[in-house]
Amino acid sequence: MPHHTSPPPAHFERHLDDETATLQAGTALSQSLAAGMVIYLYGDLGAGKTTLVRGILRGLGYTRTVKSPTYHLVEAYSVFNLNLYHFDLYRFKNALEWEESGFGDYCGAESLCLIEWPEKGLPLLPPADVHIHLNEQDSGRSIRAVALTPLGARCVNKLLTC
Ligand SMILES: Nc1ncnc2c1ncn2[C@@H]1O[C@H](COP(=O)(O)OP(=O)(O)OP(=O)(O)O)[C@@H](O)[C@H]1O
Ligand SMILES: [Mg+2]
Repeated sequence: MPHHTSPPPAHFERHLDDETATLQAGTALSQSLAAGMVIYLYGDLGAGKTTLVRGILRGLGYTRTVKSPTYHLVEAYSVFNLNLYHFDLYRFKNALEWEESGFGDYCGAESLCLIEWPEKGLPLLPPADVHIHLNEQDSGRSIRAVALTPLGARCVNKLLTC
């Protein structure tokens, strides 16, 4: 028997009444982000993943338009000393496209990667620090965050504050 067992992953769930609440959750998350982190964003079409990323970018001080990367698959931002890459892998036909597109090279110690539709790129994606799940709930959304690393746990703790 090992002397130390790892603690259960930190997780948190709450309701988001409207778009503003999703943006605020993103802004809260932005305070815990650092280079080298990877966040998977799960949820159906229209669940609010891009809205959350918009909130993150607003929280980092980015004031210009935040477009969905649906057609270009990735949008790159340089903000607050961070290289932030926002991926949307919905249009991948095959996970191998992750390697063919060279996207793996974008994700390293110097960058922060936010990945919509990660299930389209698994198992070739870099491992995530936190999984965020957005779902329709009543007239709003639910957000659930699960930390997989200590860095990810910082994100979950920030969500508690919003
Ligand atoms: N908490 C919320 N309650 C109600 N509507 C919301 C909420 N958060 C976001 N929305 C709305 O949901 C719509 C879709 O959001 P968004 O584009 O962020 O979804 P998405 O998950 O990125 O979808 P896709 O997979 O197509 O990229 C937007 O019109 C947005 O205003
Ligand atoms: Mg989107």
